[in-house]
Amino acid sequence: MSLRVLTGIKPTGVPHLGNYVGAIRPAVAASAAPGVESFFFLADYHALISTQDPLRVQRSTLEIAASWLACGLDPERVSFYRQSDVPETTELTWLLTCVAGKGLLNRAHAYKAAVDRNRAEGGDDDAGVTAGLYMYPVLMAADILLFNADKVPVGRDQVQHIEMARDFAQRFNHLYGEHFTLPEAVIEEQVATLPGLDGRKMSKSYDNVIPLFAPREQLRKVVFSIVTDSRAPGEPKDTEGSALFQIYQAFADAGETGAMRSAFAEGIAWGEAKERLFERIDGELRPLRERYQALVADPAGIERVLRAGGERLRDEQARPFLARLREAVGLRDLAARSDAGAGDDDDAAKAAPPVFKQYREADGRFHFKLVDGDLLLLQGEGFESPRDCGRAVAALKSGTDLGSAAAAPRVDDAGRVWLGGTAVGALGEGVDGEALLRALARFAGTAE
Ligand code: TRP
Repeated sequence: MSLRVLTGIKPTGVPHLGNYVGAIRPAVAASAAPGVESFFFLADYHALISTQDPLRVQRSTLEIAASWLACGLDPERVSFYRQSDVPETTELTWLLTCVAGKGLLNRAHAYKAAVDRNRAEGGDDDAGVTAGLYMYPVLMAADILLFNADKVPVGRDQVQHIEMARDFAQRFNHLYGEHFTLPEAVIEEQVATLPGLDGRKMSKSYDNVIPLFAPREQLRKVVFSIVTDSRAPGEPKDTEGSALFQIYQAFADAGETGAMRSAFAEGIAWGEAKERLFERIDGELRPLRERYQALVADPAGIERVLRAGGERLRDEQARPFLARLREAVGLRDLAARSDAGAGDDDDAAKAAPPVFKQYREADGRFHFKLVDGDLLLLQGEGFESPRDCGRAVAALKSGTDLGSAAAAPRVDDAGRVWLGGTAVGALGEGVDGEALLRALARFAGTAE
């Protein structure tokens, strides 16, 4: 079974080497693993909570998008999009707002910290606090629940937000039927924290960072400013506690690290060690830097990539999902007859419609299935890309051919399911063709 992994990136400034080693590089690598379906988005709605400078929002979004693409994120493989390109996020935020406990939001760390500061200064509790800051956890829950993510890799400071998302999802499910997957936080415990120039953790607030895309000569200067002890050339040096060694290790393979360790023992001069470190980092970063510069120089290209990602998700997931959620809460066509009773939990659960699930298998291909509760109605074929897979699902929902000619889904005697001339899957065990077609008919009109 594939896992849906979702990561939100706040667009703030160009990343440094610590962000690259600790977050970007591992996330990009994990997104290429079989059996995961990855969602990466630029959290620009969230950015409005902390800045009111429109140019800064725009510029940061461009730079962060370019950074992730330059570092190898493949928008053909993963869903890469801008939060505000999927406005269903805000509609879902409202639906969740109406089940979110205000008391729970009172306890959110960021809000509480603001209140504590105000109290310390003797001001009103809520002085300078926007409702945006207060609602931050609900918006974040909408990001996650909109795509029914299973796992959300985050830093420790974000765990509380994931727990809140689970809470809102649970309340909603309880009231309206099983619509949301309960997300889990994945805390990257063994992720490397890279030391900065002065040996403390690399961080903008310590002003000790190595910029990720600095030109070669500037990178060289910064690397040479790494603090070392005063041991002379020829004197053995400690790898333990050496920022230089640790940064080297983050870029080198085991063999190279071993060689550097011996060089330390044999008394390599600091200048020489820095030269080696610089060449090693520059070797890995040079192609990234070149890609970054090309990407930033072509904002229209990035705009296209982000829009395509957002539109695809809206069409295949966000719009149909919101249609289902609106129906569930009673924002309904007044003329439509519905058998979903109001209020009663059991009725709501029974009325929960069948759902399509899309996932990536160990073979790296993208599959889908249609399930009704525990019952597998349809097992889909594997596709090369999530887009093809999504197209097949959309076509089944709308009852049209994968190409352009209209054709209803058809089931043959062997239990194979066809759309026009293309086999898209097989009936689940013990399921008859009629039952499948009835289930598919329930999606009519939801796929737009
Ligand atoms: N709050 C996250 C941060 O500050 C960014 C974020 C927004 C996010 N929405 C998300 C992270 C959804 C994970 C999932 O880093």
